[in-house]
Amino acid sequence: MDQVKRFCLLATSLALLACSRNPSMLQDLAGPKAEKTSQLFWFFAVIEIIVWALVLGFLFYSLWRRRESKMGPPLQPSEASERRALIGVSVAIGATVLILTTLVGASYVVDKQLLGFEKDPTVEIEVTAHQWWWELRYNSATESEIFYTANEMHIPVGENVRLKLRSSDVIHSLWFPNISGKQDVIPGRDQDLYIQADREGIFEGKCSEFCGLQHAYMGLRLFVDSKEKYAAWKAAQLQPSVEPKSDEEKHGRDVFTKGACLMCHVIRGTEAMGYSSNAPELTHLKSRTTIGAGAAPNTKGYLGGWIIDPHGIKPGVHMPTILQEPKDLQALLAYLEILK
Ligand code: CUA
Repeated sequence: MDQVKRFCLLATSLALLACSRNPSMLQDLAGPKAEKTSQLFWFFAVIEIIVWALVLGFLFYSLWRRRESKMGPPLQPSEASERRALIGVSVAIGATVLILTTLVGASYVVDKQLLGFEKDPTVEIEVTAHQWWWELRYNSATESEIFYTANEMHIPVGENVRLKLRSSDVIHSLWFPNISGKQDVIPGRDQDLYIQADREGIFEGKCSEFCGLQHAYMGLRLFVDSKEKYAAWKAAQLQPSVEPKSDEEKHGRDVFTKGACLMCHVIRGTEAMGYSSNAPELTHLKSRTTIGAGAAPNTKGYLGGWIIDPHGIKPGVHMPTILQEPKDLQALLAYLEILK
């Protein structure tokens, strides 16, 4: 009975592997690079399945033949069986060399094709990996068109985007499973990753190199927008922060700019212009869907919890615990809520 239970448990766990919120590139391709990589994957997979089936086939065939014969092991291999063995080994070696060469060749061809996508970017974003969040700087030749945001990236559909990857601390790795392969982000070694998405949608990006306690909550959500939607988003991001109107919101801004928050965070259009780049820019905080790089939804309740006890939501996060008077906290939240 125990064995039946164990089998059921194993079968259920295996079946549940298919229930991912973030279907991999094999199931939900959204860009030309992912398509090429997926083709390579299936090419490898088919050849490997054939080889696996042949090896097992030969194994079972030999076992079956051994059982058939009632005689003991041959004491002296005959000349004919020696010759058969020689042919068998030669064929196996030849097939191995041929298969390995084919697979290496296919990888090389696909690598070349992937490199072909690395040209003429229309958008350039500097992506800096921090423990445990992503800082984004949208580059432009015009100074007034440069802006910063964090943890959520918007790109226009169908256009080539160059991500200039940097790390401020340890080794990270950036991966958009539906769009492209992984790229390590190594301190002191700048790397580029080109991405292009063929259709609109929201895709998850992950840090895929273990980088410390909160590696799991180091998400970079990717929004692939239509050209118009992207332009509107960009125009909104370039605006300074919304001015507070009510007395409570004004008090909230004072709590922010006269308290500890401005030591690290930037809100453009206020005194909070930041003394370090160790925290996300908050000018348009409420245009984002999550806080803490995917650790919690960006709602007023979670934001309050985050300010009072960030370590309760994301243990080890570098944001210190900043205790607020209840009245100050409510005002601060009222102010943050208007930062659309
Ligand atoms: Cu950054 Cu894992």
